[in-house]
Amino acid sequence: IQAEKAGYKHFMLKEINEQPRAVRDTTLGRVSLETGKVFLPDMKISPAEFRAATGITIAACGTSWHAGLAGKFMIERLARLPVDVDYASEYRYRDPIPSPTDIGLLITQSGETADTIAAQHELIAKGSKTLAICNVVGAAVTRLAQGTITTNAGPEIGVASTKAFTAQLTALFTFALYLAQVRGTVDDTTSLHLVTELSRVPGKIEEILRSVDDQCHELAKHFSTARDFLFLGRGIHYPIALEGALKLKEISYIHAEGYPAGEMKHGPNALIDETLPVVCIATKDPSDPSSVLKYEKTLSNIQEVTARSGRVIAIAIEGDEHIGQLVEHVIHIPQSHELLLPILEVVPLQLLAYHIAVRRGCDVDQPRNLAKSVTVE
Ligand code: G6P
Repeated sequence: IQAEKAGYKHFMLKEINEQPRAVRDTTLGRVSLETGKVFLPDMKISPAEFRAATGITIAACGTSWHAGLAGKFMIERLARLPVDVDYASEYRYRDPIPSPTDIGLLITQSGETADTIAAQHELIAKGSKTLAICNVVGAAVTRLAQGTITTNAGPEIGVASTKAFTAQLTALFTFALYLAQVRGTVDDTTSLHLVTELSRVPGKIEEILRSVDDQCHELAKHFSTARDFLFLGRGIHYPIALEGALKLKEISYIHAEGYPAGEMKHGPNALIDETLPVVCIATKDPSDPSSVLKYEKTLSNIQEVTARSGRVIAIAIEGDEHIGQLVEHVIHIPQSHELLLPILEVVPLQLLAYHIAVRRGCDVDQPRNLAKSVTVE
C-alpha cells in the first residue's frame, strides 16, 4: 500500500498532487487549441436537442453537488440556459416539474451513489433525457444516461474528494462551452480564448502546489486548534467556500461553514471574534468588470470581519498587494478566467484542510463515519 501512495504520506496528498494531470486528461481530445471548438463524442442527445433545451437540472451529492453549483455559473453565463441544482437526496421528494425539453445532468465521482441514481430515475420518469459526469467508466449512472463526460481523474482512494472535484469542474466548463457553441451564444474568438485559458490551468495548479504547500503547513500550526471556521465567497467562488468548509470538517472534524460573503450581515457576523478563522475567497479576473465588482464587495465584507477581530485568511490573485494590507494571511494563486478560478482556488483549501487534519492526528484518508461511495438512500 505504501507503493500505491507513490511516496506520499496519504492518498489524499497524492491525489491533490495529481490534479494537474487529472485536469489535463479531462480535456484531452475534447478541445481544439487551434479552433477553440469543443467535441463531446458519444452523445445521444443531438445538437438540435441541445439547441431546443429549455433548462438543465443538475442533481448530485456532497463534493459533486458543489461542482454542480459552480457548473450553474458556467452554463448560465456561457450558454444562457437556466440551471437548477438539486441535492440528489432531495430531488424526488419535492415533486419536481422538469419539462420534457429540460436535460438532467448527474454529477458523480463513483457513478454508484444511491441518491443520485434515484434522482436520475425520477428525471427519466418525468420525461427528461439525462447526461452524466462520472469518474468511473461503465458505472450505474452512465448506463442510464444518454451521454457521459468521463472525468479522467483516475481512481480516487481518499474518502475526501480532491482530484475528482477539479476534474468535474473541468468537465463542466467544457460542457458549458460545448453548449454555448451549439447554441450560438459564444463567438469563435471567445471560444479560442476560453480554451487557451483552460489549457493553462494544469500548469497553474502545478505552480500552486509548489508555492503554497509550505504556507498551508505553517497556517495549520496557527489554526489547527480552532473550534470553528468560516469560509466565504461570492458568485462562482461561493461553491468553493462550501467545498473548503466540507474538506475541513470531513477530515479534521473542526466545525466549518461555507457562506455567501454578502450574507454575513444577516447572521454569521454575530459569530465573529478573535478566535474565529475566516477564509475569504477574494480573487478577481481583472479583465471582467463583474468579477472586479464582486471582488470589491468582498473586500468590504472582509473589512467587516477584521473590524470585529476575526482572523482572516484570504485567497487572492498574484499581484494583489492591496489585500495584504487588510488581512493577516494571504494565499496567492495565479490569475485566470473568472469561470476557471475555482479550479485553482480549491487547491490551497484542500492543502489547508489536509495539514490541519494531519496536525490533529486524524485519519485523513478514512475519516470516521464516512464512506467513499454511499450506496444506500
Ligand atoms: C460520499 C463521499 C464524498 C462524495 C459523495 C458523493 O459522501 O465521501 O466524497 O462527494 O459521496 O459521491 P459521488 O461518487 O456521487 O460523487
